[in-house]
Amino acid sequence: MTRLTLLLCCAVFYAASARADGCTTFSINGSYANSFQYYRFYDFRSLQETIIEQNNAFRWDPQVQSLSVNDSSWSRDWEIREQAKAVTGEDTISWNYTASNVKIVRSDDSLKEPTTYLTLSATRHSSQLAAEIDFAQKSILYASIRASVRVNGASGAVAGIFTYHNDTSESDIEILTRDPGNNVHYSNQPTTDSANKINPGSSYNVSMKAGRQWSAWTTHRLDWVPGHSAWYVDGEMAASTNINVPDAPSAIILNMWSNGGQWAGRMPNGTEARLDVMWIEMAFNTSTQRDSPSGSTEIRCSVDKAVGRPTVSAGIASGRNGLEFCLLLPLILATWLFCDLIN
Ligand SMILES: *[C@@H]1O[C@H](CO)[C@@H](O)[C@H](O)[C@H]1NC(C)=O
Ligand SMILES: *[C@@H]1O[C@H](CO)[C@@H](O)[C@H](O)[C@H]1NC(C)=O
Ligand SMILES: *[C@@H]1O[C@H](CO)[C@@H](O)[C@H](O)[C@H]1NC(C)=O
Ligand SMILES: *[C@@H]1O[C@H](CO)[C@@H](O)[C@H](O)[C@H]1NC(C)=O
Ligand SMILES: *[C@@H]1O[C@H](CO)[C@@H](O)[C@H](O)[C@H]1NC(C)=O
Ligand SMILES: *[C@@H]1O[C@H](CO)[C@@H](O)[C@H](O)[C@H]1NC(C)=O
Ligand SMILES: *[C@@H]1O[C@H](CO)[C@@H](O)[C@H](O)[C@H]1NC(C)=O
Repeated sequence: MTRLTLLLCCAVFYAASARADGCTTFSINGSYANSFQYYRFYDFRSLQETIIEQNNAFRWDPQVQSLSVNDSSWSRDWEIREQAKAVTGEDTISWNYTASNVKIVRSDDSLKEPTTYLTLSATRHSSQLAAEIDFAQKSILYASIRASVRVNGASGAVAGIFTYHNDTSESDIEILTRDPGNNVHYSNQPTTDSANKINPGSSYNVSMKAGRQWSAWTTHRLDWVPGHSAWYVDGEMAASTNINVPDAPSAIILNMWSNGGQWAGRMPNGTEARLDVMWIEMAFNTSTQRDSPSGSTEIRCSVDKAVGRPTVSAGIASGRNGLEFCLLLPLILATWLFCDLIN
């Protein structure tokens, strides 16, 4: 029995116990600090080849339940849109959402993180193709959505990260490839009234601070809470509003599209634009509130301390960490003995 095996064995047990953190409430900080009942983290970085193949081959098959970014919930939790969109106005063209424009890809630079990421592309070869992923749970009622993304490619496409109930109950983050490299759009629909006059406070065209460009990895965040929407760039609030804040159960969507119209612009024939995604992190409630199991104590975790790892909040933390350590020590010893036995 080598020390390495022993170490690995212990590491596996430790990882298992550390993951079983049992957070029951997920809190967010910022100007509209709040808490949520559910949490998800989809990490597309550093995936192994077999995982990529599995995901690219199966993830939109509704029969397949158990494949994911790694092995859990990517395929179960997200649907990939296949939809033909008709011409909607004089200036627009017809376009299609297609599953083949959604892929997990390997980075060209294998030495630099991330070695893999999710990419949604809008492509134009005469026809216009687009990509969209929809969170399968469609009754999200309030959420904090964060995604580390970059946008590159031809002018005339729109990258969207948004909530959607209907066209007048929707909260958006949008990046337009025809825009200057540091502008991001935030809006709560409808942004105009029936006379096509702008609804003040419903939309923002923000210049990201500190020379940030959307072509480089940036963390975009939308906090949607009762009465307020707030948008963040790399952890700093860039805009907030109490106008047109949605209050209906919604879907969560990421997409990359173009319809050749005035807002998106038109992609030149033979070009491509991409929304690359390193990870998506979400804390949310649904319209059907979950009852907390009776007798269970609330374990409140912050999602702001470490990406992808909700951390037990201060106060409860000290007691719990102490308890965890006490439980962990015998566990390590038991593991040690167990590993010794099986080797
Ligand atoms: C949220 O918490 C994190 C970690 O403590 C901190 O780095 C960040 O500045 C906080 N953000 C806001 C908006 O308060
Ligand atoms: C989410 O639900 C929990 C439990 O009902 C509640 O305490 C919390 O305020 C809700 N969060 C939002 C943003 O509505
Ligand atoms: C994904 O699976 C690999 C191999 O099983 C493992 O090494 C890695 O830690 C897993 N990543 C996550 C995020 O669970
Ligand atoms: C778009 O979808 C329509 C309807 O399903 C189909 O007829 C058309 O061939 C598709 N176009 C492309 C470019 O995939
Ligand atoms: C776009 O390019 C394709 C070949 O790449 C060509 O067949 C088609 O006619 C072009 N369409 C337009 C509108 O220029
Ligand atoms: C959108 O949904 C809201 C809330 O359910 C409703 O009040 C509104 O009439 C809907 N708008 C449209 C255009 O259907
Ligand atoms: C957003 O603002 C920038 C200037 O900061 C401007 O160049 C750009 O055209 C605006 N975008 C839209 C879609 O209005």
